[in-house]
Amino acid sequence: MNVHTLESQQRERIPTEIFGDADEACVRLATEIAALIRRNDAAQRPTVLGLATGSTPVRLYRQLIRLHRQEGLSFKGVLTFNLDEYYGLPRTHPESYWRFMHDQLFDHIDIPAANVHVPDGTVPRADVFASCRAYEEKIRAAGGLDLQILGIGRTGHIGFNEPGSTRESRTRLVTLDGLTRRDAARDFLGEANVPRHAITMGVGTILDARAIVLLAWGEAKAGVIAQAVEAAPTETLPASFLQGHANVRFFVDRAAASALTRVRHPWLVGSVTWTPALVRQSVVWLSQQVQKPVLKLLDEDYSEHGMADLLTERGPAYGLNIKIFNELQHTITGWPGGKPNADDSCRPERAAPHPKRVVVFSPEPSHDVLGMGGTLRRLVEQGHDVTVVYQTSGNLAVPDEEAIMAVDLVAELAAAFETSTGPAAVFARDTGRELLAKSAFDGDTAPIRRLKGLLRRGEARAALKGCGVAAAQIRFSDLAFYERGRYRQFSPDRADVASVVAMLRELRPHQVFATGDRDDPSSITAVCFDLVRKACAEVATDDWFAECRVWLYRGVETPWAASEIDMAVPFSPRELAQKTQAVFHHKSQRSQTPVAMGLREPWQQAEQHNRALAATYDGLGLANYEAIEGFQRWLPPAKG
Ligand code: F6R
Repeated sequence: MNVHTLESQQRERIPTEIFGDADEACVRLATEIAALIRRNDAAQRPTVLGLATGSTPVRLYRQLIRLHRQEGLSFKGVLTFNLDEYYGLPRTHPESYWRFMHDQLFDHIDIPAANVHVPDGTVPRADVFASCRAYEEKIRAAGGLDLQILGIGRTGHIGFNEPGSTRESRTRLVTLDGLTRRDAARDFLGEANVPRHAITMGVGTILDARAIVLLAWGEAKAGVIAQAVEAAPTETLPASFLQGHANVRFFVDRAAASALTRVRHPWLVGSVTWTPALVRQSVVWLSQQVQKPVLKLLDEDYSEHGMADLLTERGPAYGLNIKIFNELQHTITGWPGGKPNADDSCRPERAAPHPKRVVVFSPEPSHDVLGMGGTLRRLVEQGHDVTVVYQTSGNLAVPDEEAIMAVDLVAELAAAFETSTGPAAVFARDTGRELLAKSAFDGDTAPIRRLKGLLRRGEARAALKGCGVAAAQIRFSDLAFYERGRYRQFSPDRADVASVVAMLRELRPHQVFATGDRDDPSSITAVCFDLVRKACAEVATDDWFAECRVWLYRGVETPWAASEIDMAVPFSPRELAQKTQAVFHHKSQRSQTPVAMGLREPWQQAEQHNRALAATYDGLGLANYEAIEGFQRWLPPAKG
């Protein structure tokens, strides 16, 4: 079926397929690529592939490697052209795209070295233009690209064609957008290290490919995907130029599809079955659209905004408004662990048992306080037995400068309390030497990672102290997948799941808080959430688990929409300040470049999001609070 013919997709200008998850999409695309290669091999024609780097295509490359190893797919007849390369990075640099492609794909398949092309990021400035033209010429000489694989940046870039790139642009030197550099900051261990320029194929070069598939995972991409697919083509969102291509498809997971009209506002593009969730979603949307509190929505508002059929089924507006208002009202509670001895029939949490055993899973130190610092404090104050479990040490995210300060402190302490050959002195000396000797992008040695992990432990303890959580209530799991991994290259295994299972079975919580459910699957938060999901499936038949509720919290990148929230915990200006203070304790996570503009620091972002959610509730006509943290109830999958 042609996807354009479906009613629900009438607004989509690019055929877009939504997959259950990224792996499902990558299996499909890898199968298509294998068929293309085999067809071309049989016709003794080369297959010319345009390739992308970044987190997005990693799973596709894993599938291609699997097909090579298990099904004998040969890449001897394949020519590849990569989209882009950072300018100024030699091939040997760990973050060069040349290195990335070899690590992720080329070193594991039988592609001849001469068939691989990545723009050269080291040509002198004066030769860049000629080098870019030569790159285009090579693509032409190879017969043009059979298939171009793309990811998409949060600026809407394809390749490194940032906003402002024209449809006709060709391979060239470009300046990276601030947001793109921020997104790359983790890979480069700090934004200051991210190159400012890159060489990229142009939009026109990409559009010359005979077929294009753009991949996108995770909710952070949902906004740009919806714009690229549904809005008019514009230079401010270069991916939207793909609309002009005759053979382009987007493969997205559910989270990346979540802002498409057919998902977010399906009632606008066809008839829908009005589930309770959809009714709430649509009324909240209407209230925001017409900027009226829910209780003031008129029948005309519904009918003038494509919701006449909801009125017919559930109207008139008066009763519908009251119903949704009450639903929203009942999400609000100052008692996130349940209010003891109170009627809980309209509260998000059960009154009993009280106190509850509560487990907060935090992928890295700081996710907990960023997402639910105010609620954590409430839970402790209301007498619950709260344990915070830090799943990973977070040591990859600590800049060297912080570690150098810490090692100095250890050295001073050692000098004050022990001899110069004591263990702490030796550790400080050796680790200090390693830190000074390493160049900016060398991986950290085990002692450096240990030190950085300890530093984050200290920050976490200080932050939690501010929330009333005692040190004895903190667990550091230091999951192994993280300790042996690198960004984008985490491969969790049974032992990681077993560790989460063991924690759950030991603590037997009545309430679990977790995060990362809709994030990019290669992110730490998503990997950690997947472990919780698997662990919950494993303990699903344990007696205690029947009494356990799982709540999802959100980080600062992708906050909840008001209609997605099942529990809204409001707090006062004073409590917001206390939360900000707690987040502030994670000093190693502050932005590494001077703040040039806007709200960049994590504590500022958290504060802004909590205030914004409160303003949203106010706009809907509910009480006007200073700040709100939102949670969604999650129903764990059944065992097996
Ligand atoms: C990479 C590239 C970029 C990325 C985009 C998304 O070669 O050209 O356009 O595809 O920045 O990056 P990830 O996949 O890391 O989210």
